[in-house]
Amino acid sequence: MAMTIKLSIFNMKGGVGKSTTTYNLAVGLARFHKQRVLLIDIDPQGNASASLGVEIWELDQQLKDVLRRNATIPDVAIAIEENLDVVPSNILMAEEEIPISGLPGRELLLRKAITQIEDDYDYVLIDCPPNIGVFSINALMASEGVIIPVDMSYLGLLGISAIERALELIRSALDHPIQVTGVLATRFDARNNLSKEVLASLSEHFGDAVFKTLIPETVKLREAPSHSQSIFDYDPTGKGAIAYQDFTKEVKQWH
Ligand SMILES: Nc1ncnc2c1ncn2[C@@H]1O[C@H](COP(=O)(O)OP(=O)(O)O)[C@@H](O)[C@H]1O
Ligand SMILES: [Mg+2]
Repeated sequence: MAMTIKLSIFNMKGGVGKSTTTYNLAVGLARFHKQRVLLIDIDPQGNASASLGVEIWELDQQLKDVLRRNATIPDVAIAIEENLDVVPSNILMAEEEIPISGLPGRELLLRKAITQIEDDYDYVLIDCPPNIGVFSINALMASEGVIIPVDMSYLGLLGISAIERALELIRSALDHPIQVTGVLATRFDARNNLSKEVLASLSEHFGDAVFKTLIPETVKLREAPSHSQSIFDYDPTGKGAIAYQDFTKEVKQWH
C-alpha cells in the first residue's frame, strides 16, 4: 500500500505565491514524476482551481459539499490531466465558514474525507486561504507537512512569527504534530537588495528548512493563470518553469 503524502501550502499573508506554487507543483509532480496528485482548493477564492482551467462559476458541487458531508471527494473531483485531479472551490464556500465552524469535529472534516480516498493518490496538496480560520485549520489538521511560501518583502518577513504561532496552536492545542516541509522563497528579484536581505534572514531563521530553489519574480508566472496553463505549458523554457521544476524535484526528494 502506497503512502500518501499530504501537504498544505500555507501562509497567512496573501499574494506570496501559495496558489501559484500549489498548482504548478501539482502539475510538476504529476507530469515529470508520474505521481498521482490530488489538489484540494480550500481557499474560497478558488485561484488554484481557476489557474488549472476549472470553470469555478459552473460547479454543481465543490469542496464545501464535502465538508458539509453532502458529497465525497470522488463526487466533486475534476480530472485535469493524467495523474492530476482537483477538488475545486469558489466564493460560495465563504458562506459556509460559520455553519462549518459549528459542526462537531469541525477541525477534522477534511482529514476524514481524505481518509476514504488517500490510497488513490501519492500526493494531496492543499491550497490554503490567507488566514487561520476553520478552512486553514482543516487543511493543516489533514496534512503531515506544510510548505510555507514567503515573498521577498519586509512584510513577508514580519508575517513569519504569526505563521509559527499558528503552527504551534495546531501542535499544542489541537495535538497534531505537523512538520515544516520547507520554506520557499518566492517573488525573488536578484536586482533588489531587499530580496537578498529577506532571503538571508530566512536562511538564518530556518536554516536547512529553506528550499534551495528560489522562485523568481516573472511576468510569465503572473500571466499563466489567465491562459489556464501551468508555467510548464505557458513558458516552458523560461526561468519560472525552470524554478518550479527544480522546486518540484526538491519536494519529490524530501520524503
Ligand atoms: N513569482 C512570481 N512572479 C510574478 N508574479 C507572481 C509570482 N508568484 C505569484 N505571482 C502573482 O502574484 C499574485 C498573488 O499570487 P498567488 O499565488 O495568488 O498568491 P497567494 O495564493 O499567496 O495569495 C498573482 O497575481 C500571481 O500571479
Ligand atoms: Mg491563493
